[in-house]
Amino acid sequence: MITLGIETTCDETGASIVEDGKKILSNVIASSSDIHEKYGGVFPELACRRHIEVIEEVILEAIEKAQITKEQIDLIAVASQPGLIGALLIGMNAAKGLSISLRKPLIGVNHVEAHLYASMMHLESIPTPSLGICLSGGHTFIVKILDVGSYEMLSTTVDDAIGEAFDKVASLLKLPYPGGPWVEKLALKGNPKAYSFKAGRVKKSPLDFSFSGLKTSVLYQLREKDIVPEDIAATFQEVAFKDVAKKAKRSLETFPCQAIFLGGGVTANQRLRKILEEEIQNTPLFFAPKELTLDNAAMIAGLGAKKYLGESMPLDSEAIPRIPIA
Ligand code: KG4
Ligand code: ZN
Repeated sequence: MITLGIETTCDETGASIVEDGKKILSNVIASSSDIHEKYGGVFPELACRRHIEVIEEVILEAIEKAQITKEQIDLIAVASQPGLIGALLIGMNAAKGLSISLRKPLIGVNHVEAHLYASMMHLESIPTPSLGICLSGGHTFIVKILDVGSYEMLSTTVDDAIGEAFDKVASLLKLPYPGGPWVEKLALKGNPKAYSFKAGRVKKSPLDFSFSGLKTSVLYQLREKDIVPEDIAATFQEVAFKDVAKKAKRSLETFPCQAIFLGGGVTANQRLRKILEEEIQNTPLFFAPKELTLDNAAMIAGLGAKKYLGESMPLDSEAIPRIPIA
């Protein structure tokens, strides 16, 4: 079965062709981060305009790179939730148009669920129950995975998503947007114990995250004399990731699980992977391959193929800007 995946939830326009839900034949991504850089974050209208300009080209390139014809597509999967509403609509409308013209079924999938699925996509069977940890620019949460599509939310962030905190700290350090990879690079040259930053604790919800206080500590530290940006980046990153490791361990103590699946842009970070591998030794960790950690359409195609039960989604289905996965 050949699935075309389409992704337009934020500032990346993606199209991918995936065979039998696993084999990635092409994975094309056009990012508009260049136009958002001067605003220090995604400018929704400009993201939408770029999606409109490039979506046709991106889809055609995915088909060409996969060396198939459009008639060979069996299923169209589109990220229909959550995301910027205008951006979602562009992907949805492209997918609906193709579904009508090619007479192929359509399935809408949850982008955040797809981030987690990116770390399971290659497996023949998925160990359950397991823990899912999503660390992206828009979402930070831990879920118990009972099956693909069946989740129990264990924790979330009460303020910033972890990637958002990385982007804001990067902006304080005058690094380009998106800031995560730049903070990681700068941190390589810094002392991770230079300052006494702390991640937030959420009263009565020990598994929840809070990163706004940590971000404010960075802001205050930068007002002091003789600061070392490398040390700021390294300490911020270390504290944020040790907090993720602590909450992952706590979740495992409360809800014994067979594996941990991690997804989202922040999981591209090598230091995060190292810390989790050091701190969690008795439970297998599954990370998505690096090219599937950031926004991409292969994870949308993979999850769509996994969830498709033979019935096309109605053509009047709406895009949903905000929705949790459980
Ligand atoms: O999953 P993603 O591509 O988009 C959302 O769904 O939000 O995540 C993007 C986020 C950004 O905040 C970006 O700064 C962060 O992931 N990110 C990183 C790294 N690469 C991307 N954060 C830390 N270290 C990285 N290497
Ligand atoms: Zn994403």
